Amino acid sequence: MRTYRKRDFPVAEVRRFLEPGPIVLVSSQWRGKTNIMTLGWHMVMEFVPSLIGCCVSSQNHSFEMIRQSRACVINLPTADLAATVVDIGNTSGRDIDKFRSFRLTAIAGDRVEAPLIAECHASFECRLVDASLIRRYGLFVLEVVKAHVARSPKYPRTLHYRGDGVFMVSGQNTARYRPRFRPDML
Ligand SMILES: Cc1cc2nc3c(=O)[nH]c(=O)nc-3n(C[C@H](O)[C@H](O)[C@H](O)COP(=O)(O)O)c2cc1C
Repeated sequence: MRTYRKRDFPVAEVRRFLEPGPIVLVSSQWRGKTNIMTLGWHMVMEFVPSLIGCCVSSQNHSFEMIRQSRACVINLPTADLAATVVDIGNTSGRDIDKFRSFRLTAIAGDRVEAPLIAECHASFECRLVDASLIRRYGLFVLEVVKAHVARSPKYPRTLHYRGDGVFMVSGQNTARYRPRFRPDML
């Protein structure tokens, strides 16, 4: 097995290697207005209940919308939506109606008062279940209360952000190492 000679690397840039993606679009609704933001900083926190942590900067309009409404939808865009994903990230719901400006279709949620994005492969309706880390870290602990997923493809081509304007598009899958897994780890 090869070893790597490593050099010093700026700590503020390690995100280039660790940001897992996939990039998601988080939609929200508060006081009759809808909004969408692009988000890469999320993590799975628990299977049951299905918990996802999302880091949202307080500078973003979505921050108060999600905090006040205690709900949002995490939508999974595919690679063909890359330009829209960037445009949504470059703009604020303070200034524009993003559903209208980017010609996206809002579908009412079944379980939460926030819109699903019809153009995305999957949409997860979420409730804010723990707000205790928001002030310190902007970390919203969300519970997925309903999941809507397209039937195919099983593995959509998703966008993964590598920083500095570079996306990795998801590619090959392999089940070659599946037999090595302990059954309870699958
Ligand atoms: C690829 C990408 C990833 C981003 N990830 C995050 C993130 O994880 N958290 C965050 O607060 N903002 C993130 N942003 C920035 C927001 O999407 C951006 O500030 C957006 O305009 C906020 O919209 P709003 O003011 O309507 O809420 C990201 C932007 C891009 C383009």
